[in-house]
Formats: sequence, C-alpha cells, structure tokens
Amino acid sequence: MNHKAIIITGGAGFIGSHVVRLFVNKYPEYKIINVDKLTYAGNLANLKDIEQKPNYRFVKADICDFEAMLSLMQEEKVDGIIHLAAESHVDRSIKDPFTFARTNVMGTLSLLQAAKIYWESLPEKYEGKRFYHISTDEVYGALKMDGSLFTEETKYQPHSPYSAAKASSDHFVRAFHDTYGMPTIVTNCSNNYGPYQFPEKLIPLFINNIRHRKPLPVYGKGENVRDWLFVEDHARAIDIIFHKGKTAETYNIGGFNEWKNIDIVKLLISTVDRLLGRPEGADDDLITYVTDRAGHDLRYAIDSRKLQRELGWEPSLQFEEGIEKTVRWYLDNQDWMDNVTSGDYQRYYDDMYKGR
Ligand code: NAD
Ligand code: TYD
Repeated sequence: MNHKAIIITGGAGFIGSHVVRLFVNKYPEYKIINVDKLTYAGNLANLKDIEQKPNYRFVKADICDFEAMLSLMQEEKVDGIIHLAAESHVDRSIKDPFTFARTNVMGTLSLLQAAKIYWESLPEKYEGKRFYHISTDEVYGALKMDGSLFTEETKYQPHSPYSAAKASSDHFVRAFHDTYGMPTIVTNCSNNYGPYQFPEKLIPLFINNIRHRKPLPVYGKGENVRDWLFVEDHARAIDIIFHKGKTAETYNIGGFNEWKNIDIVKLLISTVDRLLGRPEGADDDLITYVTDRAGHDLRYAIDSRKLQRELGWEPSLQFEEGIEKTVRWYLDNQDWMDNVTSGDYQRYYDDMYKGR
C-alpha cells in the first residue's frame, strides 16, 4: 500500500518520536505530519535530527479538537493515521483518571470521527486508507506466574484507569471498522525501553537516580514481571504492520523477554556503575522498597507469534545489549535529561513519593 500523507499522533513522545524518525528517513516520498499537544511528555528535542527534513511537518494540536483534526486531514489529504498520542503513565492515571479518559478515549474518538467524515467525502472513500491504533498489553489485565501469555484472543480485563481508557479506545477503533467499514488495525505491545523515554517510567527514572545516587523506589517486593521490548524494534514492527498488516486484525508485539522488576534494577545498577567506573556494588544500597502501586498488575507477557509468523517481524536486540545501549544513551545525553526534569517534574515527584 502506498501512502502520501500520514498523520502520526504523539510523535513528540517516547515511542512516537522513534516512529516519526523511522518514517521520515525511510520514506522521503511520504509527507509525515506529527500531531502533538506537547504535554509534559512531549518534547520536540526528541526530533532535532529530522525537524528540517522536507517531508516532515509538526502541528501542535490536541487530538480532542475534532474540528482541527478534520481540517488538517482535509488540508493534507491524509490517507494514513498512526495513532500513538495518549496519556501513558499508570501512576498518573491513578491520581487523575479524567485526563486519561479525555485524551485516550475522547481523543481517539475525535480522530476516528474526523477520519470517517473526511474519507467518506472522497470518491474512493476508504480505498487505500488506514487507521492504525497503537495500544498496550495492559488492556488484557494481569497474568499469574504460570507461564501463560497474552494472545490476540485473550479477553480484555483492564485494571488501572490507564489500561481501562486504552481498552475503551481499542473498542472504539474496532467499532468504527465493524460499523462504518473503516480500515483499522490495532496492535498491543509490551513495555518499551530505550532513548527519549520520559524519566517517570522505571528504566529512565532509575538510570537517572543511580547516576545521581538518589533512592530507587521499588514498588512492593519488586516481584512484578514485565515483558520488555527495545523501542526501535517496536517502531520497526509498526512500519511492517502499517504497510503489510491485514485490515481489522489485531497483532500482539513483544520480545518474549520477561523480567522481574528487582532483577532489572540490579542490572541497571551494575551497568551504570560499570560505565561510570564506580566499584561493583557501590550503589546497591539505593534500592528502597516502597508502598506498592494500587492495583499493581502482577505479570505481563506477550505471545507475538502471530506477528512473527504472518509478517516476519522479529526483535533484533537481546535485553542486555539493549540495556547497555540505553544506559549509555542516558549517560551521554544528560542535557536532554536536565531539560525534561526541570520545573514541574520535580514538584510531581515530590508529591508522588511523599509518605512512601
Ligand atoms: P508518551 O507519554 O511518551 O508520549 C505521548 C505523546 O502524546 C506525548 O508527546 C504527548 O505530548 C502526546 N499527547 C498527549 N496527549 C495529547 C493530546 N490530547 N493531543 C495530542 N497529543 C497528545 O507515551 P509513549 O510511551 O510514547 O506511548 C505512546 C503510545 O504507545 C501510547 O498510546 C501508549 O499507550 C502506547 N504504548 C506504550 C508502551 C510503553 O511501554 N511506553 C507500551 C505499549 C503501548
Ligand atoms: P512503568 O515503567 O511505570 O510501566 P508499567 O506500569 O506501564 O508497566 O513500571 C514498570 C514496572 O516497574 C511496574 O511493575 C511498576 C514498577 N515501578 C517501580 O517499582 N518503581 C517505580 O518508581 C516505577 C516508575 C515503576
């Protein structure tokens, strides 16, 4: 399928910036329109290297602004949408669920409705169009420690306001296919890690704290399990699925890479210390067990065999290699970290960990 103008929402965020970079560099014949509200999580510094490219345009807008979305689609004659914009942090969703419902549910609906009205106004209607919605494995709920995996058939059982809002948006996307015939695709990916992730998520937060010898707040006993994928592998999967995925299908994306939180924390400490030339074990005492996250899902693990079998995607990096690359990136890009951790960030953290 050949596209001419593609909107990527949330392109100034963590995963979105990797997707924008990949598409802008790989497809000079496409026009890539990055639509982002630039919330605390959005940062144009993530895209410095491609912002001058002729096939790239940035539009600062809220996806909830239906009129703005519709006129942008009409102006740019958009034929593809890759939708990543969302509120994405579980801890924030516990404190402020309304913002999550607004952006993740109403924002997705606003994009769907704008695309429907625009595409249905064209003579060819939905022919050659694609609405690709990026979702998470968290919509499936939590697994036991029994080796089971989330497949595309696992029933939705979200627990946090974040995952409930993402689940709701997934349902709307599928409803637009079933009701109006919109060519949609949904993918559900496991936890991502890599450069440009906002340091409220486990891996960048802990790398930064180890560097500055600040406590590492491990929730509960650190026994929870997540399935980690290097962000560039996710971006590559999105590219393949956007171009070759079957309409109305769901694909799970994950690297068969389960880790207990506490084991990741130990790996991060040893990697940061080694790269900074500190003695082995120097920072082990930074580990601080704190009150568990409310409703903390025990384990996520993705079965991505459908994607591997049908579209030939495979993760490219071993976890240790990906972590080494990631830690190096954060240590080498302290300016980026200082920039995103100034101002409101500190107030958020003081508030978040008060009393823990
Ligand atoms: P992020 O929080 O780093 O980035 C989100 C981006 O969306 C930011 O640039 C922000 O400014 C923008 N945004 C937020 N609200 C907006 C609005 N109303 N209008 C326009 N832009 C808005 O998130 P991320 O980690 O890059 O996640 C991207 C997507 O991938 C999300 O949909 C998330 O649910 C999904 N996902 C994330 C992970 C993960 O591990 N991070 C895993 C699976 C799926
Ligand atoms: P996180 O990066 O917030 O991703 P998610 O909640 O979407 O999986 O958290 C990953 C795991 O690390 C999760 O089990 C919660 C845990 N965690 C901590 O123990 N301490 C922290 O400070 C953070 C941010 C997360």
